[in-house]
Amino acid sequence: MSKRKYLIAGNWKMNESLKSAKALANEVKDISASNFDHLDILVCPPFPLLLPVLESITGSNVDLGAQDCHFNEKGAHTGDTSAVLLKDIGCKYTIVGHSERRADHAESNEIVKQKAKAAIDAGLIAVICIGETLAEKNAGKTIEVNADQVRNSMPEGANASNVVVAYEPVWAIGSGLIPETAEIQETHKAIRLEIAKVLGESEAEGMRILYGGSMKPSNAEEILALDDVDGGLVGGASLNANDFLAIAEKAK
Ligand code: PGA
Repeated sequence: MSKRKYLIAGNWKMNESLKSAKALANEVKDISASNFDHLDILVCPPFPLLLPVLESITGSNVDLGAQDCHFNEKGAHTGDTSAVLLKDIGCKYTIVGHSERRADHAESNEIVKQKAKAAIDAGLIAVICIGETLAEKNAGKTIEVNADQVRNSMPEGANASNVVVAYEPVWAIGSGLIPETAEIQETHKAIRLEIAKVLGESEAEGMRILYGGSMKPSNAEEILALDDVDGGLVGGASLNANDFLAIAEKAK
């Protein structure tokens, strides 16, 4: 059982419409209303749906997060959105460095670090994603790759209240595959040790490390029961309010 407050985060990716997003947000809000005061619930819709979703969840225990931000505060960056603006419209969190962005937009650790810095400077909580590819796993490099990503993506000024780390094995995302439970704990523990090297023991002890990658109601219980797992970053299953909240129910 986690010593830290669980965070169950829904990453909606590039899904939903204006109508369906509002309906989904309302369902999440309604089902979570009485049951989940002991944990943090977060939904991360695509940019144009942030405000309509915020309208649906205002006054509830569900928080709003974005899926990405730019590292500059403003300026000539067509198509990008600043962390400052995300904070201004009501976001509490933003994801940075998701493996889909690292792959689709060639985001390096250095860029992810700058984005995380911009997020915390703007007053947001940065959810920094890390994770090994299948080739790296097969080469026995899981711990090394994740430690390297922690070291090189963690911004100056990071602490247990403004950063959450999300460990998402790239090969587990959307695939229905997950690591062995013991492997998840081993990797999370190694990630926490690396955080301790960068930020010190006490920040590492307080920092939440989420697991992500094919998390479902059927596998959430054993994953969330692991000592160093402090929640989940849920993709596919977060698009169904019942599944998403069934996962949250396993966080005890
Ligand atoms: P998944 O995605 O739950 O659909 O595997 C998780 C994520 O990429 O955040």
